Amino acid sequence: MKEVRELSDSELKSLLETDEFDAELCVLADKVRRETYGDAVYVRGLIEFSNYCKNDCLYCGIRCHNLNVQRYRLTKEEILTCCEEGYALGYRTFVLQSGEDLSYKARDICEIVYEIKTAYSDCAVTLSIGEKSRQEYQDYFDAGADRYLLRHETASTDHYGMLHPASMSLESRIRCLFDLKEIGYQVGAGFMVGSPYQTTDHLIHDLRFLQNLQPDMIGIGPYLTHNETPFADKPNGSLALTLRLISVLRLMFPYALIPATTALGTIAPNGREQGLKAGANVVMPNLSPVSVRKLYSLYENKICTGEESAQCRGCLEQRVRAAGYRIVTDIGNARRQVPEDRR
Ligand code: 5AD
Ligand code: FES
Repeated sequence: MKEVRELSDSELKSLLETDEFDAELCVLADKVRRETYGDAVYVRGLIEFSNYCKNDCLYCGIRCHNLNVQRYRLTKEEILTCCEEGYALGYRTFVLQSGEDLSYKARDICEIVYEIKTAYSDCAVTLSIGEKSRQEYQDYFDAGADRYLLRHETASTDHYGMLHPASMSLESRIRCLFDLKEIGYQVGAGFMVGSPYQTTDHLIHDLRFLQNLQPDMIGIGPYLTHNETPFADKPNGSLALTLRLISVLRLMFPYALIPATTALGTIAPNGREQGLKAGANVVMPNLSPVSVRKLYSLYENKICTGEESAQCRGCLEQRVRAAGYRIVTDIGNARRQVPEDRR
């Protein structure tokens, strides 16, 4: 088989049109992943610090029009306590994620970032708090933020319009991603697999968009239904197609950090393990206080909502080992070059 990064649109199409598990593709992706990263799996401690959101994305359980969500936000002190716990468990990256919550001003976010970086200078801080002005992104960066996750969701204008209210645009999303890159962040983009109305052509467009953006991180997971959204009657995305896409991404982007996502672990009990075997090399266990975990429900039946942080850490350690990999607790930056001992 030719290297996937050289595949034409029609060749990609035939790989992605079939919704069946492809063991051969998995083996190829695992080979490339081991050449670049060995058996290392990086861990990121995820802190979901607010479920308030000004947006109304049609697929998302915490959209502003879902009035049945009990909203919460953590204080700076609570966030720092999560980091303290996480640091003791070996995490060296903290991912601060929230809805687009306008009650945190730029200087609040900067203060939180600065305090984490001051207390844990050997850690990376990743923000995942949505679309902001270039100046705000710059301010967070100057305060010490290292990485930013902002999934593009879909790189096709027509499809973007079907998933989002008219107040949101793909153009603005893309502007944010390129601003973040120019500022100097390690940037993560990504999309849902099997989101309503998605076609194979949309997926190919997503891959081409990623080739153009060249992100350090690429997060994908199956679309999962939430009953209190306008898409309540839309079916879940497919596990097999998500796994195929993880493999294709690994082959196209040998150096990318690709998480085996919570959504993947939700659609199948061993979904994350299968994701690792298909080419993923990051896991993001939850560090949020157990009291709020159920409230950050983007989709139904989310896993890890009842476990303490230490339990999640231990559980994941075992799962990763059972899948044939090894958790490493260093800061885990993307490798842009093949290390000498692996050339
Ligand atoms: N199913 C799966 N993933 C979802 N996300 C939001 N809603 C859902 C859903 N119903 C994803 C989006 C977002 C990320 C934080 O979670 O891609 O960027
Ligand atoms: Fe959270 Fe298994 S990873 S409980």
